[in-house]
Amino acid sequence: MYNDNPTLSGLNKEIDEKKQGEVFYQEVSIDEPDGKKFYIESYGCQMNFSDSEIVASVLGDAGFAPTKKMEMADLILINTCSIREKAEETVRKRLRIFDKIKEQKPGTMVGVLGCMAERLKKKFLEEERLVDLVVGPDAYRDLPNLVSTVEDGDKGINVLLSREETYADISPMRLGSNGITAFISIMRGCDNMCSFCVVPFTRGRERSRDSFSIVAEATDLYKKGFREVTLLGQNVDSYKWTNPESEEVVNFANLLELVAKVHPDLRIRFSTSHPKDITDDVLFTMKKYENICKYIHLPVQSGSTRILEKMNRTYTREWYMDKVRRIYEIMPECAISSDTITGFCTETEEDHQETLSVVEFSQYTMSYMFFYSERPGTLAARKFEDDVPIDVKKRRLNEVIRLQNQISHNLNQKDIGKTFKVLIEGDSKRSDQEFKGRNTQNKMIVFPKKEGLKPGDYCEVKVNSASSATLKGELVG
Ligand code: SAH
Ligand code: SF4
Ligand code: F3S
Repeated sequence: MYNDNPTLSGLNKEIDEKKQGEVFYQEVSIDEPDGKKFYIESYGCQMNFSDSEIVASVLGDAGFAPTKKMEMADLILINTCSIREKAEETVRKRLRIFDKIKEQKPGTMVGVLGCMAERLKKKFLEEERLVDLVVGPDAYRDLPNLVSTVEDGDKGINVLLSREETYADISPMRLGSNGITAFISIMRGCDNMCSFCVVPFTRGRERSRDSFSIVAEATDLYKKGFREVTLLGQNVDSYKWTNPESEEVVNFANLLELVAKVHPDLRIRFSTSHPKDITDDVLFTMKKYENICKYIHLPVQSGSTRILEKMNRTYTREWYMDKVRRIYEIMPECAISSDTITGFCTETEEDHQETLSVVEFSQYTMSYMFFYSERPGTLAARKFEDDVPIDVKKRRLNEVIRLQNQISHNLNQKDIGKTFKVLIEGDSKRSDQEFKGRNTQNKMIVFPKKEGLKPGDYCEVKVNSASSATLKGELVG
């Protein structure tokens, strides 16, 4: 886990950095011993993981096969995150390891993709001399060209951001997949300009992907045996696509409905919702379709209206609480999760108490909790002083974590005795005698296997015991 982020496990966002990123791979076929191979590691949010699958597809078309062994690769790629300083430090550490491989195997190409590539641009090639390729999130189609440039002895760089690119026509190569759950990117970029956040600078302007291509991807996944798709965007509720032929506008509620209709056995999740944009329409669409999971990731960031204003989140504490109330009113069984930042510029003890009380009020099933990390170039870095001492930031973070753990624990205890519909995802981490799967609220449940059941099946599980992270149960019915 992060030192700055000892959060609970969950669906979303940042990957446990000690795991050194998720490694996408496919066993290299022995029929092609001489074929070119690439290795890719991904850090950061789900969007980055989803992008790595697009990169894999682009490289696959260019004749590269994936490998899980970096020593075997002709091309080593790292898809990077800039969200906090710590995320960038991790990338630099990984580059030291790639450098060693390059020393042992000259000719190996090393490429940096994603948000850090976009943030640092040419500076990356100056700072990290052994890096050959620097490619921003909107330039992945150019990868084969850039690789040729490197093969010809030059450095390859493309960090142009686009207003149109959505990779709508590229069918992602699902390499690290369990075959049951998959991500579908529905939009790219972000127009929100939260003052602490680097994403608008690394991912560019917001644009929505063609709805038809999203529905087609979901349908194709269903046919291939997948049973859950997560629609991804930095702010999914502002999804908006205009059909060029009919001029018809598809908003997020419409899109949810279109995907829900693909098949009643295909579950739909989505992330992330910005509290200012999630509408009643979205909530009622969720309610209407059983296969749209009753789970909303609704980051609050802070519980203080004064801090929220400084963060440029465009809602107040009361407005956020009203939204939470509305969700529970329309769907009493809905689970909500959140992101919080402690120690943002000028945060007082009083502001911090307000964050604690909003966490208590909202009854999140889980949260991603961070202390503020100033990012160069952001509004906050330019306008405000990063004036909360690090030990205060960390102490406040620990208080939020302690409270959240208590709430998660209590909510899980309340699940004991209840029966949930679970989608089986595979063997549990601990034992091949047990399955793991999630309920609609996105809670992981572990239970003993029964003959005839397999990953991708739905089953009814009664919860018998609970910790703050996992529920344990038994099959019923
Ligand atoms: N689009 C999503 C968030 C993407 S970034 C949203 O608006 O909710 C994921 C989370 O990282 C954010 O919600 C925020 O809690 C955290 N984060 C972003 N910038 C940060 C920074 N500079 N310091 C600490 N945490 C940050
Ligand atoms: Fe960053 Fe705010 Fe956009 Fe989320 S909504 S990506 S926090 S700028
Ligand atoms: Fe995601 Fe990190 Fe970029 S959170 S959008 S990979 S800065």
